[in-house]
Amino acid sequence: MRDVLQVHGGLPLHGEITVRGAKNFVSKAMVAALLGDTPSTLRNVPQIRDVAVVTGLLELHGVRVEADADGGTLVLDPRNVESAHVADIDAHAGSSRIPILFCGPLLHRLGEAFIPDLGGCRIGDRPIDYHLEILRQFGAEVTKRESGIEIRAPHGLIGTKVRLPYPSVGATEQLLLTAVRAEGITELSNAAIEPEIMDLINVLQKMGAIISVDTDRVIRIEGVARLRGFQHTALSDRIEAASWASAALATRGDVTVKGATQPEMTAFLNTFRKVGGEFDITDDGIRFYHPGGDLRSIVLETDVHPGFMTDWQQPLVVALTQAKGLSIVHETVYENRFGFTEALTGMGATIQVYRECLGGHPCRFGQRNFYHSAVISGPTPLEAADIEVPDLRGGFSHLIAALTAKGTSEVRGIGLIDRGYEDFQGKLAALGAEFSHG
Ligand code: EPU
Repeated sequence: MRDVLQVHGGLPLHGEITVRGAKNFVSKAMVAALLGDTPSTLRNVPQIRDVAVVTGLLELHGVRVEADADGGTLVLDPRNVESAHVADIDAHAGSSRIPILFCGPLLHRLGEAFIPDLGGCRIGDRPIDYHLEILRQFGAEVTKRESGIEIRAPHGLIGTKVRLPYPSVGATEQLLLTAVRAEGITELSNAAIEPEIMDLINVLQKMGAIISVDTDRVIRIEGVARLRGFQHTALSDRIEAASWASAALATRGDVTVKGATQPEMTAFLNTFRKVGGEFDITDDGIRFYHPGGDLRSIVLETDVHPGFMTDWQQPLVVALTQAKGLSIVHETVYENRFGFTEALTGMGATIQVYRECLGGHPCRFGQRNFYHSAVISGPTPLEAADIEVPDLRGGFSHLIAALTAKGTSEVRGIGLIDRGYEDFQGKLAALGAEFSHG
């Protein structure tokens, strides 16, 4: 069974690995290619399942996607875009949330779009209400059907003013991908400004879009009648880089992450240093290491950019089980992102989760029934266990826990990790981890 990994833990990770383009940018840039009337070239693409899913969806819509030998460069030719069969799109349902971002480009190209039931990681409800409201504001007609959502724009899409209730990454991308070719001016307030969004704006500008970003989370777009293809090298995956950094810290190791870049990781690097980890930044990447002695407990709150991102939280929590004292982590982006701690507790960690907003500002989940704060007491040695991967980032955290624990752990459902971590088994081997297939 290839979906099970037996991890023989207790060894520090040592060595060098490379991260390529960011999963959460590459998939969106691929969708942006749909908006052009000439082919686009995207470089630094990682070979992960999310890229395969978007490739499949694009091909269903008539886009030709060609990859080079190691999959790192994609050429996307959207000149023959066509409507896909509902059943075919539906076959992709549950594997990704990306289909929702096809709406704007498909409405511009074909006047209609169909969105199957959406999947993505089970880390909360993950609704799409902001997305649908944005599309309606542009003048689209949104109809819910049993098999999914049908969206039409018989009279075209018209620029609009939108204020997001929360700076959602996906909703901001939805707006960008729709506004660039809508008629007139669109203004978005309370926009997300994650580096992956800024790189999407770079791509759209290369295609011919007119977009300005103010310092106060306001983005303005002047619609244009046509866009061309782009050539772009994806920014690096700061979530993957931080995941390997956390693995180095938890296992008392020393890992150089080639391709990791400082500007997108400032908040992570500050926290890594406060916990007691050391790092050296070079032109090629970042070396993360445990300098010996005790790690320190911290108070941490996840937030939208430029804060400490939610996707960094799960891997770092494993390292916090090895820090001396009480750490407090307040998750403010997702209401339900501590489910993975149950397995850690089973391995000997002392982690309590609370409904209250602990250690930071009150957030929109306070006084509601969501366990969104955690108190971690350490250091506690972790014991090997049999664990089931719950979601992408939680799964990588379980892997770190298994690598930290002495003895042999069985990690099931590792296929989920392939969604966002390129060749993670090859990288584990390069770092001296010992594991075998169950
Ligand atoms: N939200 C709504 N309504 C909406 C959209 C979002 O209430 O219509 C809420 C969500 O439920 C959540 C919050 O807004 O509580 C933030 O969600 P956001 O829309 O920002 O997240 P997303 O676009 O669905 C992307 C990444 C996530 C990452 C978040 C936050 C992709 C494909 N996914 O998700 O990445 O955690 O932004 O940075 O870009 C991952 O890589 O493992 C991952 C989950």
